[in-house]
Amino acid sequence: MVKHAAYFRDTWAEINLDHIFENVKNMKQHIKGGTKLFAVVKANGYGHGDYQVAKTALEAGADYLAVAFLDEAIALREKGIEAPILVLGATRPEDATLAANFNIAVTVFHEEWLKRAVEHFYGEQPLKVHIKCDTGMGRLGIREKDELRHLADQLLAHENFLFEGIYTHFATADELTTTFYEQQLERFKELLSGLDSLPELVHCSNSAASLRFEDAQFNAVRMGISMYGLTPSQEMKDILPFPLKESFSLHTKLVHVKEIKAGDAVSYGATYIAKENEWIGTIPIGYADGWIRKLQGFKVIVDGKLVPIVGRICMDQCMIKLPSKYPIGEKVTLIGENNGMFVSVDDVAEKLETINYEVTCMIGNRVPRVYKKDGKTVFIHNPLHSLIK
Ligand SMILES: Cc1ncc(COP(=O)(O)O)c(C=O)c1O
Repeated sequence: MVKHAAYFRDTWAEINLDHIFENVKNMKQHIKGGTKLFAVVKANGYGHGDYQVAKTALEAGADYLAVAFLDEAIALREKGIEAPILVLGATRPEDATLAANFNIAVTVFHEEWLKRAVEHFYGEQPLKVHIKCDTGMGRLGIREKDELRHLADQLLAHENFLFEGIYTHFATADELTTTFYEQQLERFKELLSGLDSLPELVHCSNSAASLRFEDAQFNAVRMGISMYGLTPSQEMKDILPFPLKESFSLHTKLVHVKEIKAGDAVSYGATYIAKENEWIGTIPIGYADGWIRKLQGFKVIVDGKLVPIVGRICMDQCMIKLPSKYPIGEKVTLIGENNGMFVSVDDVAEKLETINYEVTCMIGNRVPRVYKKDGKTVFIHNPLHSLIK
């Protein structure tokens, strides 16, 4: 029988599941005993893969999952995840029944939503609802105590709706100056004080707050970026209570190697001109994979050495300047470790003048994800086709 590879272009992202497991386990140990943990796996697990990350996080002690949209939650259910899931973003009131039937909790942040959801609801089981409070983020959420109390009363009055949780989201928990964070926490406590009783889950801490502030843990936290081993901000690097282990790496291989002469050009626009005879390697990754044109000039690793990307990055390929002739098939690392040299997600973020969150999210689904445990490949996810494995 012919054994197919799971992917047919030598460009892949590797996800270290042991690191994700350890990051979750360490967070569970760090937060107060009995505090529940939501593993935030929205946006395809910040680009790492929703299902594998969710499974690993649950094995490591996560109690709940959180995603941004109902589609993401349904996708997890269809892949066999049975753990409780909360949708953090807006869900249409017309879709309340669907959410309830999949046992997916939704976020509510105005009364009109509830009115419309009640009209449309014919679910087989009650819909779990978390109320979102806006304490300073200015995104989703109720801002006024009276409005909150009224919504909570309405929720409690409907037997088809289960008021399961209440939460808010911090805008600056990753900054060393804590004034705004403290204002938001006080505002949240003030809003809670208007309720006769609290629901089962009260949560407001993202990674940054979970890592730093015990008084914001209430009885659950929402762990996103730190689960993937990335620091919520550069400012926080020196104050982490435990080391975070990066889990995302990105690799490719040389598909063509050639010597060009002084004066020869490389890539679109002929903007790169060799100053001397140079070895140029072509790698099969480009802006359509999320390796965007702004990364021109950035370094990748070949044989433990940093080498520059030269000329414009094309849609599917780009060129690097090699220190000498290398064989076709030589591994090239764009993020992660290669022969003792390391390029971190943060290094890429710095080059792009953005945050690490954006870097792993932008590596597209044309790049297969290869999952590693104990150094061994345990699963390959390539959404492009099903010739496997
Ligand atoms: C509402 C909400 N909670 C929690 C998180 C997780 O935050 P972090 O990735 O900083 O841990 C996010 C992420 O954006 C979010 O939007």
